[in-house]
Amino acid sequence: MSTITPSTIVITGANRGIGFAMAKLCQQRGDTVYALCRQSSIALDALGVNVVEHIDVATQVGVNKAVSALKGVAIDLLINNAGILRDEQLSDLNQDTILEQFNVNALAPLCFSHALLKNLSAGSKIAFITSRMGSITDNTSGGRYGYRMSKAALNIAAVSLARDLHDESIAVGIYHPGYVQTEMVNNDGVLSNGDISADTAAERLITLMDQLTMAETGVFKHSNGETLPW
Ligand SMILES: NC(=O)c1ccc[n+]([C@@H]2O[C@H](COP(=O)([O-])OP(=O)(O)OC[C@H]3O[C@@H](n4cnc5c(N)ncnc54)[C@H](OP(=O)(O)O)[C@@H]3O)[C@@H](O)[C@H]2O)c1
Repeated sequence: MSTITPSTIVITGANRGIGFAMAKLCQQRGDTVYALCRQSSIALDALGVNVVEHIDVATQVGVNKAVSALKGVAIDLLINNAGILRDEQLSDLNQDTILEQFNVNALAPLCFSHALLKNLSAGSKIAFITSRMGSITDNTSGGRYGYRMSKAALNIAAVSLARDLHDESIAVGIYHPGYVQTEMVNNDGVLSNGDISADTAAERLITLMDQLTMAETGVFKHSNGETLPW
Protein backbone atom coordinates (compact mmCIF):
# COMPACT_ATOMS: atom_id res chain seq x y z
CA MET A 1 0.00 0.00 0.00
CA SER A 2 1.46 3.40 -0.83
CA THR A 3 1.62 6.19 1.73
CA ILE A 4 -1.61 8.09 2.22
CA THR A 5 -1.14 11.70 3.23
CA PRO A 6 -1.17 13.29 5.66
CA SER A 7 1.65 11.25 7.07
CA THR A 8 4.17 11.67 9.86
CA ILE A 9 7.56 12.12 8.27
CA VAL A 10 10.98 12.38 9.91
CA ILE A 11 13.86 13.81 7.87
CA THR A 12 17.53 14.05 8.88
CA GLY A 13 19.74 16.89 7.64
CA ALA A 14 16.65 19.02 7.05
CA ASN A 15 18.14 22.48 7.55
CA ARG A 16 19.32 22.87 3.92
CA GLY A 17 19.66 21.20 0.55
CA ILE A 18 17.50 18.24 -0.44
CA GLY A 19 16.45 17.54 3.16
CA PHE A 20 15.06 21.04 3.53
CA ALA A 21 13.30 20.83 0.15
CA MET A 22 11.62 17.56 1.19
CA ALA A 23 10.56 19.09 4.53
CA LYS A 24 9.05 22.09 2.70
CA LEU A 25 7.19 19.93 0.20
CA CYS A 26 5.77 17.62 2.86
CA GLN A 27 4.74 20.55 5.05
CA GLN A 28 2.98 22.20 2.09
CA ARG A 29 0.91 19.11 1.39
CA GLY A 30 -0.17 18.73 4.99
CA ASP A 31 2.11 16.09 6.45
CA THR A 32 3.36 16.29 10.02
CA VAL A 33 7.07 16.88 9.56
CA TYR A 34 9.85 16.40 12.08
CA ALA A 35 12.84 18.22 10.61
CA LEU A 36 15.97 16.96 12.34
CA CYS A 37 19.22 18.89 12.03
CA ARG A 38 22.40 19.83 13.83
CA GLN A 39 21.48 23.51 13.65
CA SER A 40 18.35 25.03 12.18
CA SER A 41 18.31 27.66 9.43
CA ILE A 42 16.22 30.80 8.94
CA ALA A 43 14.38 29.06 6.10
CA LEU A 44 13.64 25.96 8.19
CA ASP A 45 12.47 28.03 11.17
CA ALA A 46 10.05 29.82 8.83
CA LEU A 47 8.42 26.58 7.61
CA GLY A 48 6.36 25.87 10.69
CA VAL A 49 7.43 22.23 10.97
CA ASN A 50 8.64 20.50 14.15
CA VAL A 51 12.31 21.43 14.17
CA VAL A 52 14.51 19.19 16.31
CA GLU A 53 18.03 20.60 16.68
CA HIS A 54 21.32 19.11 17.90
CA ILE A 55 20.75 15.89 15.97
CA ASP A 56 24.18 14.89 14.76
CA VAL A 57 23.28 11.49 13.32
CA ALA A 58 26.83 10.23 13.69
CA THR A 59 26.97 10.57 17.47
CA GLN A 60 25.29 8.54 20.20
CA VAL A 61 24.25 11.81 21.85
CA GLY A 62 22.48 12.87 18.65
CA VAL A 63 20.75 9.52 18.26
CA ASN A 64 19.62 9.58 21.91
CA LYS A 65 18.24 13.12 21.51
CA ALA A 66 16.26 12.03 18.44
CA VAL A 67 14.88 8.96 20.22
CA SER A 68 13.76 11.09 23.12
CA ALA A 69 12.29 13.89 20.96
CA LEU A 70 10.32 11.32 18.95
CA LYS A 71 9.17 9.22 21.91
CA GLY A 72 5.65 7.97 21.25
CA VAL A 73 5.55 9.39 17.69
CA ALA A 74 4.28 6.86 15.15
CA ILE A 75 6.47 7.42 12.08
CA ASP A 76 5.06 6.67 8.62
CA LEU A 77 8.22 7.60 6.75
CA LEU A 78 11.78 7.96 8.06
CA ILE A 79 14.07 9.67 5.54
CA ASN A 80 17.79 9.22 6.18
CA ASN A 81 19.05 12.15 4.15
CA ALA A 82 22.01 13.64 6.06
CA GLY A 83 25.31 13.04 4.31
CA ILE A 84 28.72 14.47 3.54
CA LEU A 85 31.04 14.50 0.55
CA ARG A 86 34.81 14.78 0.89
CA ASP A 87 37.27 14.40 -1.93
CA GLU A 88 40.11 11.87 -1.89
CA GLN A 89 41.96 10.88 -5.01
CA LEU A 90 44.58 8.14 -5.26
CA SER A 91 47.30 10.78 -4.98
CA ASP A 92 45.99 12.11 -1.66
CA LEU A 93 44.28 9.27 0.19
CA ASN A 94 43.12 10.45 3.57
CA GLN A 95 42.04 7.77 6.05
CA ASP A 96 40.43 10.33 8.33
CA THR A 97 38.01 11.67 5.71
CA ILE A 98 37.26 8.15 4.44
CA LEU A 99 36.33 7.06 7.98
CA GLU A 100 34.36 10.27 8.54
CA GLN A 101 32.24 9.58 5.47
CA PHE A 102 31.80 5.93 6.41
CA ASN A 103 30.58 7.05 9.82
CA VAL A 104 28.12 9.70 8.61
CA ASN A 105 26.96 8.18 5.32
CA ALA A 106 26.83 4.46 6.10
CA LEU A 107 26.96 3.59 9.78
CA ALA A 108 24.86 6.50 11.06
CA PRO A 109 21.77 5.93 8.85
CA LEU A 110 21.74 2.24 9.81
CA CYS A 111 22.12 2.90 13.55
CA PHE A 112 19.70 5.83 13.41
CA SER A 113 17.04 3.69 11.73
CA HIS A 114 17.69 0.88 14.20
CA ALA A 115 17.23 3.27 17.14
CA LEU A 116 13.84 4.40 15.78
CA LEU A 117 12.45 0.97 14.89
CA LYS A 118 10.08 1.09 17.86
CA ASN A 119 8.41 4.13 16.21
CA LEU A 120 7.69 2.14 13.04
CA SER A 121 5.04 -0.48 12.38
CA ALA A 122 3.52 -2.42 9.49
CA GLY A 123 3.07 -0.02 6.57
CA SER A 124 5.83 2.36 7.72
CA LYS A 125 8.71 3.06 5.34
CA ILE A 126 12.42 3.85 5.65
CA ALA A 127 14.14 5.80 2.88
CA PHE A 128 17.88 6.13 2.39
CA ILE A 129 19.28 8.94 0.27
CA THR A 130 22.34 7.31 -1.20
CA SER A 131 24.19 8.04 -4.44
CA ARG A 132 24.87 6.31 -7.71
CA MET A 133 28.52 7.01 -6.83
CA GLY A 134 28.07 3.99 -4.57
CA SER A 135 27.23 1.82 -7.56
CA ILE A 136 30.08 -0.55 -8.44
CA THR A 137 28.71 -1.12 -11.95
CA ASP A 138 28.36 2.61 -12.55
CA ASN A 139 31.89 3.48 -11.40
CA THR A 140 33.63 4.36 -14.64
CA SER A 141 35.61 7.35 -13.39
CA GLY A 142 37.27 6.17 -10.14
CA GLY A 143 38.36 8.47 -7.30
CA ARG A 144 36.15 9.78 -4.48
CA TYR A 145 37.19 6.79 -2.37
CA GLY A 146 35.45 7.64 0.87
CA TYR A 147 32.18 8.80 -0.66
CA ARG A 148 31.91 5.84 -3.02
CA MET A 149 32.85 3.32 -0.32
CA SER A 150 30.44 4.82 2.21
CA LYS A 151 27.49 4.92 -0.18
CA ALA A 152 28.17 1.34 -1.36
CA ALA A 153 28.21 0.31 2.32
CA LEU A 154 24.96 2.21 2.89
CA ASN A 155 23.37 0.39 -0.04
CA ILE A 156 24.20 -3.07 1.28
CA ALA A 157 23.08 -2.10 4.80
CA ALA A 158 19.78 -0.87 3.35
CA VAL A 159 19.25 -4.15 1.50
CA SER A 160 19.89 -6.14 4.69
CA LEU A 161 17.39 -3.91 6.49
CA ALA A 162 14.87 -4.49 3.71
CA ARG A 163 15.25 -8.25 4.15
CA ASP A 164 15.17 -8.11 7.95
CA LEU A 165 12.08 -5.88 8.06
CA HIS A 166 10.18 -7.73 5.35
CA ASP A 167 8.09 -9.81 7.72
CA GLU A 168 7.13 -6.66 9.63
CA SER A 169 5.87 -5.10 6.36
CA ILE A 170 8.23 -2.14 6.65
CA ALA A 171 9.43 -1.16 3.17
CA VAL A 172 12.90 0.24 2.50
CA GLY A 173 13.61 2.62 -0.39
CA ILE A 174 17.14 3.34 -1.64
CA TYR A 175 17.38 6.51 -3.72
CA HIS A 176 19.90 8.44 -5.80
CA PRO A 177 18.51 11.99 -5.92
CA GLY A 178 20.20 12.96 -9.21
CA TYR A 179 22.94 15.59 -9.60
CA VAL A 180 21.36 18.27 -7.47
CA GLN A 181 22.13 21.99 -7.08
CA THR A 182 23.05 22.02 -3.39
CA GLU A 183 26.06 23.10 -1.35
CA MET A 184 27.33 19.51 -1.46
CA VAL A 185 28.38 19.94 -5.07
CA ASN A 186 28.93 23.73 -4.95
CA ASN A 187 31.46 25.22 -2.57
CA ASP A 188 31.36 28.75 -3.95
CA GLY A 189 27.95 29.69 -2.55
CA VAL A 190 26.49 29.84 -6.09
CA LEU A 191 24.43 26.74 -6.85
CA SER A 192 25.63 26.46 -10.45
CA ASN A 193 26.72 22.79 -10.46
CA GLY A 194 23.96 20.22 -10.73
CA ASP A 195 21.31 19.18 -13.26
CA ILE A 196 18.22 19.75 -11.13
CA SER A 197 17.14 21.95 -8.25
CA ALA A 198 16.67 20.62 -4.73
CA ASP A 199 12.92 21.29 -5.12
CA THR A 200 12.75 19.09 -8.23
CA ALA A 201 14.77 16.34 -6.52
CA ALA A 202 12.45 16.53 -3.50
CA GLU A 203 9.32 16.25 -5.67
CA ARG A 204 10.71 13.20 -7.46
CA LEU A 205 11.94 11.52 -4.29
CA ILE A 206 8.76 12.06 -2.30
CA THR A 207 6.70 10.75 -5.23
CA LEU A 208 8.82 7.58 -5.30
CA MET A 209 8.53 7.21 -1.53
CA ASP A 210 4.73 7.59 -1.80
CA GLN A 211 4.70 4.85 -4.43
CA LEU A 212 7.03 2.49 -2.53
CA THR A 213 5.44 -0.85 -1.70
CA MET A 214 6.74 -4.10 -0.22
CA ALA A 215 7.02 -5.38 -3.81
CA GLU A 216 9.87 -2.89 -4.37
CA THR A 217 11.55 -2.98 -0.98
CA GLY A 218 15.34 -2.97 -1.22
CA VAL A 219 15.44 -1.67 -4.81
CA PHE A 220 18.00 1.03 -5.76
CA LYS A 221 16.34 3.81 -7.74
CA HIS A 222 17.31 7.03 -9.45
CA SER A 223 14.90 9.84 -8.60
CA ASN A 224 13.87 9.77 -12.27
CA GLY A 225 12.34 6.34 -11.58
CA GLU A 226 15.01 4.16 -13.23
CA THR A 227 16.25 1.14 -11.31
CA LEU A 228 20.01 1.47 -10.83
CA PRO A 229 22.57 -1.36 -10.90
CA TRP A 230 24.54 -2.17 -7.76
N1 LIG B 1 23.62 17.04 -4.29
C1 LIG B 1 23.83 15.95 -5.05
O1 LIG B 1 24.11 16.05 -6.27
C2 LIG B 1 23.71 14.58 -4.44
C3 LIG B 1 23.93 13.48 -5.29
C4 LIG B 1 23.82 12.19 -4.77
C5 LIG B 1 23.48 12.02 -3.44
N2 LIG B 1 23.28 13.10 -2.64
C6 LIG B 1 22.92 12.84 -1.24
O2 LIG B 1 21.80 13.61 -0.87
C7 LIG B 1 21.81 13.83 0.55
C8 LIG B 1 21.57 15.31 0.83
O3 LIG B 1 22.65 16.04 0.26
P1 LIG B 1 22.51 17.55 -0.25
O4 LIG B 1 22.88 17.55 -1.67
O5 LIG B 1 21.24 18.14 0.20
O6 LIG B 1 23.77 18.17 0.55
P2 LIG B 1 23.93 19.43 1.50
O7 LIG B 1 23.21 20.60 0.97
O8 LIG B 1 25.39 19.51 1.73
O9 LIG B 1 23.17 18.98 2.84
C9 LIG B 1 23.69 17.96 3.62
C10 LIG B 1 22.83 17.89 4.87
O10 LIG B 1 23.33 16.81 5.69
C11 LIG B 1 23.54 17.34 7.00
N3 LIG B 1 24.55 16.61 7.73
C12 LIG B 1 25.82 16.33 7.37
N4 LIG B 1 26.44 15.65 8.33
C13 LIG B 1 25.54 15.47 9.33
C14 LIG B 1 25.57 14.85 10.59
N5 LIG B 1 26.68 14.24 11.06
N6 LIG B 1 24.44 14.85 11.35
C15 LIG B 1 23.33 15.46 10.91
N7 LIG B 1 23.24 16.10 9.73
C16 LIG B 1 24.35 16.09 8.95
C17 LIG B 1 23.93 18.79 6.78
O11 LIG B 1 23.78 19.51 7.99
P3 LIG B 1 24.76 20.74 8.38
O12 LIG B 1 24.15 21.97 7.78
O13 LIG B 1 24.71 20.74 9.87
O14 LIG B 1 26.11 20.45 7.83
C18 LIG B 1 22.90 19.16 5.72
O15 LIG B 1 21.65 19.40 6.30
C19 LIG B 1 23.16 13.32 1.04
O16 LIG B 1 23.02 12.04 1.62
C20 LIG B 1 23.98 13.23 -0.23
O17 LIG B 1 25.02 12.27 -0.15
C21 LIG B 1 23.39 14.38 -3.10
